[in-house]
Parts: sequence; structure tokens; C-alpha cells
Amino acid sequence: MFNKKEIEQIRSEFPFLDLKPNNKNIVYLDNGATTQKPIEVLKNIENFYNTENGNPHRGAHYLAMVSTEVYENARKKVGEFIGAKSSNEIVFLRNSTEALNLIAYSYAMNNLTEDDEIVISIMEHHSNLVPWQRIAQKTGAKLKYLYLDKDMQIPFSEVTDKISNKTKILSITGASNVVGTMPDLDKIFKYTRENSNAKIILDGAQLVPHKKVNVVDMDVDFLVFSGHKMYSAMGIGVLYGKEDLLNSMEPFLSGGDMIEYVYEDKTTFLPSPQRFEAGTANVEGAVNLASAIDFIERIGMERIDEYETYLSDYCYDKLKKLDYLEVYTTPKTPRAPVISFNFKEAHPHDVASILDTYGIAIRSGHHCAQPLHRYLGSNFSCRASFAVYNTIEEIDYFVRHLEDVRRLLGIES
Ligand code: ALA
Repeated sequence: MFNKKEIEQIRSEFPFLDLKPNNKNIVYLDNGATTQKPIEVLKNIENFYNTENGNPHRGAHYLAMVSTEVYENARKKVGEFIGAKSSNEIVFLRNSTEALNLIAYSYAMNNLTEDDEIVISIMEHHSNLVPWQRIAQKTGAKLKYLYLDKDMQIPFSEVTDKISNKTKILSITGASNVVGTMPDLDKIFKYTRENSNAKIILDGAQLVPHKKVNVVDMDVDFLVFSGHKMYSAMGIGVLYGKEDLLNSMEPFLSGGDMIEYVYEDKTTFLPSPQRFEAGTANVEGAVNLASAIDFIERIGMERIDEYETYLSDYCYDKLKKLDYLEVYTTPKTPRAPVISFNFKEAHPHDVASILDTYGIAIRSGHHCAQPLHRYLGSNFSCRASFAVYNTIEEIDYFVRHLEDVRRLLGIES
């Protein structure tokens, strides 16, 4: 675990900590939405545009070649980070949402029929739910949900009830952005492999920033995640897919840089990854994601995980003791470092606005998970989520000011 000095060193690498919203030290607890960026990742953007900016894969001049090299090196680094067999399995896209839509439209739309079933869980983010609704509507396939028990876990009976030889897609989050649940993926995937021919899709948006993921050990067909939730710039995300599977799929977008030969009446396409990267790529984003991975690996993923777990367990225990709150986060571990809760007598937007006057940033609303909130019996919640630069002192400050929310809203003790 990090000691105080190490945390101070890490914090000194994050310039946003100098901000003083409402003349208060910033306490940023909205890391599930997006993380802040360390100096080396910020400098990497400037360095890219100063020394490496060209259009990759098209040009025989110096900067076009440098840009191609740094872009493909970034792909290699991302592939190694998640244990992919080949960098051809790494497709750079905008974010997890785009990656899930690509799988839905390029794979599922062309392979599912009305006899088939798609299985997701009730805790999915809209990005891993709405595309499947649309695919179900267009193909006639049936959309089924794995529901949660009172501890926000998926009972194994849900898996055995819902997965069958009709299942063609299992698409599930590795960590809920609301209740923090980390389902037992090994057990669920093993059952799915043994009882169906389903393609297994792992939404890693809230998992990959916190835990080491290995796509070969987990034997997933697809994994998606976003750079901006793991200390990198916005606008860069990753689709991992098994190489043969990607090469059997139709392109999602078409145009420049993804073709082999174009005739007046037909076109042949390049294999993955270029097959899915039409148009000028976000080279800066890919290179930036590689620098965020360098940052994570320098600090150590296991140590980041251990420290974030320590912070979120501490906060969870404090909030559970406050009888004026309802806490939704799962009591079971492992769980993602997100604590969702409601004041029994206050709207989340009021809570977030009042906390903001003390410099504290939390998220309020439905967190892109309306079906889950309905299932929880509430339309919305407050959420505090943690990253490596947060501290126990910040959590104490946040918890202390929950009392001020009550006072300012006139909620009686
Ligand atoms: N998906 C992000 C969140 O949970 C935006 O806040």
C-alpha cells in the first residue's frame, strides 16, 4: 500500500489539484465519470503535436512515418497491457460506447435471428444496453436480463436460467458504475462456454482502470474500455476482439484507410485493425493512452487497486453508519471504487450542488443506468468514485460536509 509520502508524490503530479473551486481545495470524487490527468500524460499531448504529428499509414515523408510508428507502438502497448495475442486485435475507437456499437452492428446485426437470445445484466450502463435493444428490435432476437439480489450480486441461478443454447451474445460489465458489483466473471463465462455458442463481450470501462485484465486468461471474445477513465485524454477508446472473429466481421464505418482495392462498383477491405478504423485516426489519443499506461505501470496496477479499495472501503463504512442515507453499493467484495447513495430526504442534484460549494465534486443523476435505478426503486442517486490521487482526509472532509447538506436543506435530525 502507498504511504503518505508516496501519495503526496503522486498528488504532486496532478496539476488539477491546484484548482480552487469556490475558493476551496478541490476534492474530486467523480472519477467514474472521468479521471484527471498527470503531468506526463498532459505533456505527451504537446510532445505529440510538436514532434510526431503526421497522418499515419499514408505518406512517405518523415512526419507521416513517425506518426505511423508511434501509433502502431501505442497499439502494441495497449495489446500487451491486456494480454492480447496480437496487436491486430486492438482497434482504436472513440470510447467504450463506440466499441459496443461496432460489435452490435458489425457482428450481431449480421449474425442474429429471431430464434436467438442476447443476455445482459440489469446493471449495464446504457452503452451496453441500448445497442442490444436496437439489435433485438431489428433482428427479432430476444433480450434477457440477469437480475441482482439484495446484495447487488448476480445469483448463479440467474445465469443458469437465462443462458442456454439459444444465447448468441452475453454482454456484461466487469464492474458496475453504480453499485460497484464485480460479477464472478470466471464462473459466468465458464458456464456460458459450456452451455452455449455465445460470443462473450466484457464491458471493461469501469474495470480496466482498476484491475489487471488478461483477455486470454479470461477467454473473452471482445473487451471494450475508454482511455479517459484511466488517466488518458478523452476521445480514445479500445475494442479488443479475437483476430479471426474481427476479420470475419463486416466494417462498421467505411472510407479512407480501411480499404485494400476500390473499384467503381465494389471494394475489398483490409483486415483488422484497419478494417475498423476508417478515416484519419486519433493518433494523439492512442499515443496518449500509451503514456497513461506507462503512468499506471510505473505506479503499479496492483498497488493502485489496493489503495483505491482501501479508500472506498473506508468511505463505504462511514456512509453505511449514517442513518439518513440509503447506500446502494454492494456490501460484497471485490467491488469497484464507487459508492452510490441517496439522502432519504434530498434530491441528488441539491446534494451535489451544496457539496460543490465546499469544492467537492460528486456525480448526481442516473449515471446512464436508468433501468438499474428503477430496479433499485429510485430514479437517481449520488455517487462518489475514487482514483489514486484521493486521500482519506478528502473522504473525511466529504463525509463531514454531508451534515452541512442536511443543515442547509433544513432536514431535521
Ligand atoms: N459512464 C460514466 C459514469 O459512470 C460517464 O459516470
